[in-house]
Amino acid sequence: MHTLLYDVALAQTSSTHQAFPTMPPMLEEIDSQPSALGLISLRRRRLPAFGDRDIYEVKLGEEFLMSSLFVEAEEALATLGLAALQGDKLSVVVGGLGLGYTAVAALKDQRIEELFVVDALDTVINWHKNEQVPLGKILNADARNHYVHGSFFELATNPGVGFTPEGKNKTVDAILLDIDHSPTEFLNSGNASFYSTKNLSLMAEQLKPKGVFAMWSQNLPEKSFEELLKTVFEHVESHVIYFYNPFQNCESSNSVYVCVKGDA
Ligand SMILES: C[S@@+](CC[C@H](N)C(=O)[O-])C[C@H]1O[C@@H](n2cnc3c(N)ncnc32)[C@H](O)[C@@H]1O
Repeated sequence: MHTLLYDVALAQTSSTHQAFPTMPPMLEEIDSQPSALGLISLRRRRLPAFGDRDIYEVKLGEEFLMSSLFVEAEEALATLGLAALQGDKLSVVVGGLGLGYTAVAALKDQRIEELFVVDALDTVINWHKNEQVPLGKILNADARNHYVHGSFFELATNPGVGFTPEGKNKTVDAILLDIDHSPTEFLNSGNASFYSTKNLSLMAEQLKPKGVFAMWSQNLPEKSFEELLKTVFEHVESHVIYFYNPFQNCESSNSVYVCVKGDA
């Protein structure tokens, strides 16, 4: 759950707070580090409406990267992507560790033999390794999980390097991507070129026949992106994930694109 939705949600909390004047909100900064992408910080928040539940959030500069408040769509990225796969002993790549919800949802699938979770920021990987975030313990305890420090987009578009320690020519069963806000709203302007037939095809070279590429977006499915995906993948399906937003007392949505590669 990224950017606008969360900003709106937090803006709404100010009126929620007035309804609970004896329970002030709590906000603790757990860590804050400079990074190649800007200042990255991890915070723990309590909101009166949620009682003693801790809400973890990651900010990059002034932008909200991820919050543990709504994670339905991040988990659906894993479940929908993996549901489109046949077979077992699966090798799977997750692009963007964040707070680990996609990775942990993927590991619930016992067909997974190895999971490579790629993140560009060693600070984020260290929060998990040091168990400063709630899901770090689960990821660290699962021998199938491997953290990979690197840029997803560089690894995806260089089949000669590869995502895994075996690297070159190693193909995987699925790639689950949640880094940018949408295929047209980027965390970093340099990511834009990834969303092209050329670069998506380079990534697809690293998938086995009938392998799956799935991607999260904060927006409703975009026709132009579905058309682009169809230039590379045999089958493309978009899913809208609805979830309850307690701040606005309404339903919100994100999307997950699920693409299946051809036989070759
Ligand atoms: C929105 S979060 C991912 C949320 C994740 N799906 C979850 O369930 O918590 C995006 C993550 O992508 C990472 N990231 C940003 N740019 C990246 C890049 N070029 N390559 C790999 N990871 C990147 C950020 O550090 C952040 O951890």
